[in-house]
Amino acid sequence: MAGRIPREFIDQLLSRVDLVEIVNARVPLRRAGQEFMACCPFHAEKTPSFTVSPRKQFYHCFGCGVHGTAIGFLMAYERLEFPEAVEDLARLVGLEVPRTAGGSSVSTQPLLDWLAQADRFFRQQLRTHPARQRAVDYLRQRGLTGQIAASFGIGYAPPGWDNLSQTLHQAGATPQDLIDAGLASRDEQGRARDRFRDRITFPIRDRRGRVIAFGGRALDSELTPKYLNSPETLVFHKGTELYGLHEARSRTPHLQRLLVVEGYMDVVALAQHDIPYTVATLGTATTSEHVERLFRVVSDLVFCFDGDRAGRAAAWRALEVALPYLRDGRQIGFLLLPEGEDPDTLIRREGRVAFERRLEQAMSLADYLFSALRAQVDPNTLAGRARLAELARPLLEKLPDGHFRDLMEERLRQEAQLVSTRLRLPATTTSNPIDHNLRLTRTPLRKAIALLLYRPELAQQLRDDALAFQDGDEPGMKLLASLIAAWRTNPQLTTAALLERYRDTREGVILERLATWEPVIAEGNYQFAQEFSDILAALDRRNDLLEHLPDMLLRRVSPRAFSTEEQEVLRNLTKVKNV
Ligand code: UTP
Ligand code: MN
Repeated sequence: MAGRIPREFIDQLLSRVDLVEIVNARVPLRRAGQEFMACCPFHAEKTPSFTVSPRKQFYHCFGCGVHGTAIGFLMAYERLEFPEAVEDLARLVGLEVPRTAGGSSVSTQPLLDWLAQADRFFRQQLRTHPARQRAVDYLRQRGLTGQIAASFGIGYAPPGWDNLSQTLHQAGATPQDLIDAGLASRDEQGRARDRFRDRITFPIRDRRGRVIAFGGRALDSELTPKYLNSPETLVFHKGTELYGLHEARSRTPHLQRLLVVEGYMDVVALAQHDIPYTVATLGTATTSEHVERLFRVVSDLVFCFDGDRAGRAAAWRALEVALPYLRDGRQIGFLLLPEGEDPDTLIRREGRVAFERRLEQAMSLADYLFSALRAQVDPNTLAGRARLAELARPLLEKLPDGHFRDLMEERLRQEAQLVSTRLRLPATTTSNPIDHNLRLTRTPLRKAIALLLYRPELAQQLRDDALAFQDGDEPGMKLLASLIAAWRTNPQLTTAALLERYRDTREGVILERLATWEPVIAEGNYQFAQEFSDILAALDRRNDLLEHLPDMLLRRVSPRAFSTEEQEVLRNLTKVKNV
């Protein structure tokens, strides 16, 4: 769903909902001191290590490490996308989700209503329009039964410039509404003209089944474009949506695996032959949003592309975008089809059993990656193998830490037949910016942040001179300072709301981790406030020290003991720090 959700709304929402209630409705909780506990719904366990903190509005499992806010919980538990989770929570407390686009608030509901009416119109035309027979014959000739066409909501946009526009106009739509919904475009006179004319229509649904766009296929293969798609609208983004995902999910209650193909007709034809677990990208290359979305639904993906050059390029591109998401337990495979075939032609010729046999033999990521690289070098020479290692390294560095990455590194050592020490890859890399397995030692700065996340009211209670530490230029200090500032301007903010502001950022990962720390000191506001301001004062002293230390040192030892270069290094040594 498009349109940004304003941050103020997320703040307001998270101050209204109660995480304990939301979790308890799905996973019965029992009270344990200040918190609530249950057996973790995200991993198998017999003794409870899943805790929910009503104070922080934050959950955390000591067993498997999962944690998050009410939004995060719904995303993980119900496998929802961020905006969907927000909408569910909003409905629960009777709020409507505002959207901002270009700075103003826009509701997407009217647009979705027009799209739903257009969907009904197209489906009805396939049954009633005088010219319908051509469309029906076309679908038959492509091997589809009425039942499968109906289950995908396939329809027919009749010939003519304003069939749909007139119908929706009578229902109250303005020309601009139709254009905003991607159903019409303006002609030279500024009139709205139906976008889809004399085409088979495929409704594109979001994960909840709401129609957000259409694809339209020409009945005549000579006509260009062969497929016409809705343009990008407030509710439709090609780079994130997948055709057939909703249908696959509703047809298969316990989806284990998804097959990613290129075309609408491939998805429908596979479903016609009892392979309902297929989705298609919408005329675009696979994006990381696609991969992220798919891995939220299943942990096993097979990319299925033509065996021609374009297909191999598409497969390689999918491989590259998927690498950063391949945590342990997830896998991707590649099925390259014989040249000139697509899943539609193949399944119709071979049938389900043969097709699924091909699927079983899909290439693993490791096999695909190394065979593609081997094709680029001469593996019989030392130089060729060194080159192979060089090509593989940046790819393997995209993998998150874990057993899978270790295995891939091992495989690289075998493939390159080099001594292992020469191929050691760095553990953390820039191409994998968010490291979810991050381990944090307890520094005073982090402790201060953890305290603040536990007791946001500490920010109010600070005397102004306690804020002197902010002069320091370490990123962590800046983060602490901005948390304090946020809570001083908006004391109502829950910890959860603050964490949501940092969603999908490196700071966010650190903050979430820190929100799982329990304070080691006894309850009682006085102790917390004391501890907090003690740390801030110590940070301020440390800033001071860091700033003056090099000079002090140089003066004490005698500057002449160091070369100018050494002095320079010494002065900079104390500057850059991380959270
Ligand atoms: P293909 O050209 O491979 O066609 O396009 P197809 O899916 O096999 O179509 P049929 O079998 O001839 O009906 C693959 C996908 O690329 C997008 C569509 O999403 C299509 O399903 N595409 C293709 C377009 O958006 N526009 C086009 O003109 C062609
Ligand atoms: Mn095809």
